[in-house]
Amino acid sequence: MSENNSPARPFKITFVSPTGDSQVIDVDAAARPSCGTGEPGSILDIALAQGVEIDHACGGVCACSTCHVKIKAGLASCNESTEDEEDQLDKAPGVTSQSRLACQCIPSGQQDLVVEIPGWNRNRVREGA
Ligand code: FES
Repeated sequence: MSENNSPARPFKITFVSPTGDSQVIDVDAAARPSCGTGEPGSILDIALAQGVEIDHACGGVCACSTCHVKIKAGLASCNESTEDEEDQLDKAPGVTSQSRLACQCIPSGQQDLVVEIPGWNRNRVREGA
């Protein structure tokens, strides 16, 4: 866990889906990709800026749980979750100890990440939940 969220070095985020699809993003330490959605430098912010779709019904303000992801590797290099994030995660299906909200989870860059994007969030939003 890091109090300083500036990445120390370039790092990789590998996004995987339950169907086995994966996409690797190289994150530049000096110019972290950002689209302005979610906390700056968050997994959601980086993913959307690189064309990786993660649902974000509330717009990345920690007011839903549709951006629920599972950090399969590198979780220790991410900021600690807040009470607000934990409250939202309590409403998400299939939560595990690896669960985070992508809009709130900010990797420090000390480790590469493997991030699983659960399929159910996407489906639920498309159905108008
Ligand atoms: S997008 Fe709503 S909590 Fe992350």
